[in-house]
Amino acid sequence: MKRREFLMASMGATIASTIKLEGQTPPPAEKTDVVEVGEMLDPDHLICVKPHVQLISETEVGLVWMTSKEAEGWVEWSQDDGETWKRAWNERDGLLVDACDRIHKITVSGYSPAKPFRYRVRSRAFTSFGPYRVVRSAEEAVYEGEINAVVPADGTISFAMFNDVHNKLEIYPALCKRLEGALSFTVFNGDIMNHIDDEPGVCKCLMAPLAYVARQTRAPMWYLRGNHETRGKFARHLRDYVALQNGHYYGAVTLGNARFVFVDTGEDKADDHKEYSGLVDFEHYIAHQTQWLAEEVSSPAWKDAKFRVVFMHIPPDGVCGSGRIWSQRLPRVRKLHAVLENAGVTLLLGAHLHNWACDDARPERPYPMVIGGGNNLTTTRQWSLPTLTHCTIQGNTLTVKLLSPDGKVLAQKEVAGKS
Ligand SMILES: [Fe+2]
Repeated sequence: MKRREFLMASMGATIASTIKLEGQTPPPAEKTDVVEVGEMLDPDHLICVKPHVQLISETEVGLVWMTSKEAEGWVEWSQDDGETWKRAWNERDGLLVDACDRIHKITVSGYSPAKPFRYRVRSRAFTSFGPYRVVRSAEEAVYEGEINAVVPADGTISFAMFNDVHNKLEIYPALCKRLEGALSFTVFNGDIMNHIDDEPGVCKCLMAPLAYVARQTRAPMWYLRGNHETRGKFARHLRDYVALQNGHYYGAVTLGNARFVFVDTGEDKADDHKEYSGLVDFEHYIAHQTQWLAEEVSSPAWKDAKFRVVFMHIPPDGVCGSGRIWSQRLPRVRKLHAVLENAGVTLLLGAHLHNWACDDARPERPYPMVIGGGNNLTTTRQWSLPTLTHCTIQGNTLTVKLLSPDGKVLAQKEVAGKS
């Protein structure tokens, strides 16, 4: 093992050894534990983009990382404090998926969300890859990490939302300092990037932040697209770099007594708008998703849940800091929102406006809504500050707080679950 890989492996082991394993553990409190977002990229190392963990279903997580050259990749995982390790690989058409690639995406199935999950992602490069003989090189790398129990023994589910970062990487360390206690998962609610031009941009502004936040929170995440992430010539390849539920950006998962639904609201203008150059069909995409959402809110999983939380980048409405009342008028998105009107939503969490909001239910939107803030760390306009939207579901109450980078609670709301 090369010295640099040894150091990387040692760093992983040190991190793991400092983590307590009973139920959930709080995120690192010491400032010295904060690793800058850019350190998740290491072009000199075989694992050149460090891994993040995505929530895929109740019993599945996806680990995604990149290698600087074509390599094989697999995951070893343990849920008994490292006593025993299982190996996960993915097969498609009889072939191991991660046998000779730079993007590595492994789904681990059958893990228990009730226990902490330790993982080691491993990659090994090749000297040659012939049709009848593959020669592996000595170049190997490993990266080790852990996620908390997603559903701890006391049933508390906590989560945090980031939104509308728009490539401003300094926002992540600023907001991660405001994390309170352990998290079950995080949500990236869209417009994390300005647009998708190429792979280096995806690595720097999406994969590195996902890896950084996974490391800081010890929690898996759900990445949800915003309207800006549908733009740019590389946008059609974005799906290669994230683990998706059933191949879709949208989806749903039950954790504890809560149902979480993630809706991809797509672009914010009509398909024939000149900005899209005739190259989009969100009418078809959103119509299909509207049907899926209607089925979701009719399902036992939704109906039986005590809490029903919906995430979507483009909200149905919002009160901006200026006092302007904003309302989504695009017919296809209105139809999507209409499905939720009488569905018994506990809370909707939105983004897109770059102005945080914390609204009660209204006759035209009969559920409460919280919108995450903007991306200006130095503004004097409090409404435009970036926010960490932090939620805890405990007993019969969902508590949501909007936290500013300096630790102020900008707004707080408590919502009761279904009785
Ligand atoms: Fe947006």
